[in-house]
Amino acid sequence: MINVKSILNKKYLSREDIISILSVSSEDEMELVRKTAFETLIKNCSEKVFFRGIVEFSNICEMNCFYCGIRNGNPETKRYILSRQEILSAAKFCADSGYGSIVLQSGERKDDEFIDFTEGIIRDIKTQTKSSILAHGLRITLCIGEQEKESYKRFYDAGAERYLLRIETSNRGLFRKIHPENQSFKKRLECLKTIKDTGFQTGTGVMIGIPGQTIEMLADDILFFRDMEIDMIGMGPYLIHNNTPMAHYINGVESNKNLTFRSSLLMIAAARIVLKNVNIAATTALQAMKPDGRETGLDFGANVIMPVVTPVRYRKNYLLYDGKPCLEEDAEDCSSCLTNRIKSIGRTVAFNEYGDSPHYKKKETIKPCPAR
Ligand code: 5AD
Repeated sequence: MINVKSILNKKYLSREDIISILSVSSEDEMELVRKTAFETLIKNCSEKVFFRGIVEFSNICEMNCFYCGIRNGNPETKRYILSRQEILSAAKFCADSGYGSIVLQSGERKDDEFIDFTEGIIRDIKTQTKSSILAHGLRITLCIGEQEKESYKRFYDAGAERYLLRIETSNRGLFRKIHPENQSFKKRLECLKTIKDTGFQTGTGVMIGIPGQTIEMLADDILFFRDMEIDMIGMGPYLIHNNTPMAHYINGVESNKNLTFRSSLLMIAAARIVLKNVNIAATTALQAMKPDGRETGLDFGANVIMPVVTPVRYRKNYLLYDGKPCLEEDAEDCSSCLTNRIKSIGRTVAFNEYGDSPHYKKKETIKPCPAR
């Protein structure tokens, strides 16, 4: 107890300190970590919670990640891509609901048709959501995987300001184990650097509770975020999808569920304490583990929630893992349900605000980026 307390009082935490935080086991220590993370959030950001409506606009994927339900090699997944109109109505819904930002997520495709389509959508969303309230239209986050340098640049020039590409784990050996031979850590890292160099507010993240992952590896993930000067973080528990090559880990993953949930909360807290002014999402995967998982994530220092705005009839086909929540609720239900839940924990939803990462904004004053 005394040990953790003294660590939490330090200005700079070492790898060993982070390992100690991630290893706490008593409820008192857990509460101390939570409180410190929350205070760090208030000091460096604010208590506001920012919504980013997420549209899962296609599940067509070239990749074969061993953990993911929409991997190319899963023949059970019925593939879809939303029409331009469907994506634009989802974007309009976000703007009308005061979300300020939208996330466009899909499986990974690098063909010209997909790149052209995505670029066009970005331009359309920007022009069609501009208003007296949202002077620059919705902020757009892309989450469409590893792409060519010129594609990243095209997306940025079209108006997307943020890009999320999870490293999944910063441990090369573990990365190797959960991906096929043709997907490399080196490539993922290069993409992340290119995303940063292009000018995006850059987000990454990891899965927590991957079979074979240790506390030390998770501490290194936090250091990776710090060293890469990441602006936004999205992390969540690894959850089994039954139709994937990793499904045989089910017993181990199920029996570690409580530990994984705790580790996920401690990772959010550790990221907040170490990185201070980044945006951190309380992800849907947390809610898949516990109904109030996302709110608990907010308590541990997260400040972003991504309500799903994908049209309901497509949602059952975007299953990255089993037990994904909110498959039946439409976007409007999700919005009011979430707003009430957030109020119930004493936080405020920041409607009609962009909620750019303070970490990025701080850098911007040093390194100017094109006016938007
Ligand atoms: N469990 C938890 N998260 C997963 N993702 C993909 N599959 C799973 C799973 N089985 C996450 C990955 C990916 C993001 C879009 O979804 O981290 O980067």
